[in-house]
Amino acid sequence: MKRTAILISGGGSNMVKLVQAMVGDHPARAVIVGSNDPQAGGLAKARDMGVTTFAIDHRAYQGDRAAFEAALLEPLLAAQPDILCLAGFMRILTPAFVQRFQGRMLNIHPSLLPKYPGLHTHQRAIDAGDAEAGATVHLVTPELDAGPLLGQARVPVLPDDTADTLAARVLVQEHLLYPQVLRRFASGDQTPVLLNAA
Ligand code: GAR
Repeated sequence: MKRTAILISGGGSNMVKLVQAMVGDHPARAVIVGSNDPQAGGLAKARDMGVTTFAIDHRAYQGDRAAFEAALLEPLLAAQPDILCLAGFMRILTPAFVQRFQGRMLNIHPSLLPKYPGLHTHQRAIDAGDAEAGATVHLVTPELDAGPLLGQARVPVLPDDTADTLAARVLVQEHLLYPQVLRRFASGDQTPVLLNAA
């Protein structure tokens, strides 16, 4: 059984789907959920599902990334995770942190990587006139949003889409994609999961 930690920054809807999936014959179990924001709505949702939570407020570290990450590592390592899932975690992690979890840290990103790493992915897809958008789950490497692909879900971009309507359509697929990728990954299979709602 793979012990799985999840980091969030906000509402945590992907985290909820991951935790809900990790039951029965699923090869992973959620052991802890952490956030860089004590107000993150997902923390209460995790506790309601019986998962231990912690928060390390990045604002208390005033730009000292190393000190923030040292504080983050303490409860994380105490939970002895085999796998670390980033699920809407909006802090960039240093190479030193990434290397600690090399080959076992996953991230979900709301674009069809390698298109649109970084922020404002949905607006960028609309502005480019793309016919398709989507989400990607990948292994985290020191370079932002650039690690090996573990899964991708595609949706159409509709003519009257705004960033919000497109984000909502993509999020529905994220909720299907991430649990499937985690199940496969935790069982030792890194073949990409490909979903197509386009
Ligand atoms: C999701 O759309 C996720 O792909 C995105 O943040 C949202 C979090 O929603 N992640 C990133 O942009 C990472 N760069 P959630 O808190 O409801 O899961």
